[in-house]
Parts: sequence; structure tokens; C-alpha cells
Amino acid sequence: MKNNPLKINILLILLTGLFSLAPTCQSGITQSTTYPIELFSEMHYSPAYKSQETPRLQPVPEAVVNIDSIGTENQYDMTIEDFKYNHELGKDLYRVNCSFCHGNEGLGDGPAKEYIISENSYYSTNKVDGLPGSGSGTPYISPPQLNDIEGRYGNRDSAYNRIYQMLNSEIGFGPMPGFLRVLSEEERKQIIEFILDKDYGLNK
Ligand code: HEC
Repeated sequence: MKNNPLKINILLILLTGLFSLAPTCQSGITQSTTYPIELFSEMHYSPAYKSQETPRLQPVPEAVVNIDSIGTENQYDMTIEDFKYNHELGKDLYRVNCSFCHGNEGLGDGPAKEYIISENSYYSTNKVDGLPGSGSGTPYISPPQLNDIEGRYGNRDSAYNRIYQMLNSEIGFGPMPGFLRVLSEEERKQIIEFILDKDYGLNK
């Protein structure tokens, strides 16, 4: 017999039982004023255990992101009052942030180079459409030499502007990361001076 009324009744009784038992089941049920039945209780109804949280430090006021500056480059005037070039500091900042691509001496031979110029690198072009960024095609260019950048750009000012431009990017250029939010103005300037420094820097 297909529609056995007894079977349907048993099913109804079972279902009613399930729903009436549900409120006694602690994990599935939330407090009043929320949905009557909830099989997965929502996290935002859980009580907060403030007393068990570690104390929080307030951020320093200057730490607030300056939304206005996003996307608008070159509004940073690199003329810092009382700026003093320190070749030791410049060298160290260069070593930490740039040398693994551009090399310790600025010869473009840092340890990351082989990955950047590999065919399998994310930055190599796609074989199918020739567009950069998908791998297995033409490798990305090697990190350029920086020791000769003044000579290549003709004079110190042009070279300065070029490095300035590269360091003032939010997102970087290809594999080169953006340093606008990573280094302070002063740090960026120390690095530029170090690269162009003819006595202690890369431009020896
Ligand atoms: C992850 C690797 C990587 C790091 C780290 C890196 N660069 Fe680069 N850099 C590159 C690559 C690759 C290019 C070539 C970008 C292009 O033209 O598409 C480049 C280009 C440049 C250029 C342009 C050179 C020219 O001849 O016009 C300058 C200047 C430069 N980088 C400076 C720096 C400085 C300064 C740092 C450190 C603060 C740095 N880079 C960190 C990979 C890197």
C-alpha cells in the first residue's frame, strides 16, 4: 500500500518530537529574540568574554591610514628638513629591501633573479595570448643593474627621478614590490642617495 496513513502519522509524530525536543538541545538553540530554531548557532549571538580577552593597546594617532593619499603619487615631497644622508644606513636599507633582486653591488644579480627570469615564473608571459603574468612563456626581464643608473639616464637628476618614481609606487612594477607604504620618506631617500653615492654607494 502506497499512502499508508499509519506511516505518515508515525512520521509526523517523529517530526513533532524532534522539534519539541530541539529547545532542550543547548548547541542548536539560541536565546529568545533570535530565530526560534537554529541548527547552527550564529557567532554574533554568542556572549563576549571580555574578561578573558588580553588588554588591547590603542594605536598611535599617526597610524591612521591616510585615505586621501591613495592613488595620487608624487604628492610626497622628498625634501625632508634636516635630512642627512648616512651611507651606512642607506647601505643597510638597500641590502634588506633591494639586494635580493638587484644584487649587493647593484649588478642585477641577486638570488631572486633566477626565479624572476624563469619561464615558469608567474611574471613570464602566457604562451597562448602573449600577455604577461601567467607563466610558461617569455620570461620577465631581469632586475636591472643599479650601479650604472646615472650613466644610463644621462645625469644624476634623471637617475634620481627614475629611482624616486620606482620607490613611490603603491603596487610596484611587475615583480618589483611597491615601497610607498613599506619605507618612510626618509628611508627611501637614504636608499636613493646610497644608489647614486660615488664614494660609498653603488655608483663607485
Ligand atoms: C622582487 C625583486 C625586486 C626587489 C626586491 C626590488 N626590485 Fe627594483 N626592479 C625589479 C625588477 C624586475 C625591475 C624591472 C621592472 C620593469 O621595468 O618592469 C626593477 C626595476 C627597478 C628600477 C628601474 C631601473 C631602471 O633602469 O630604470 C629601479 C630604480 C629599482 N628597481 C630600484 C629598486 C630599489 C631601490 C629597491 C629596494 C628598495 C628595489 N628596486 C627592489 C625587481 C626588484
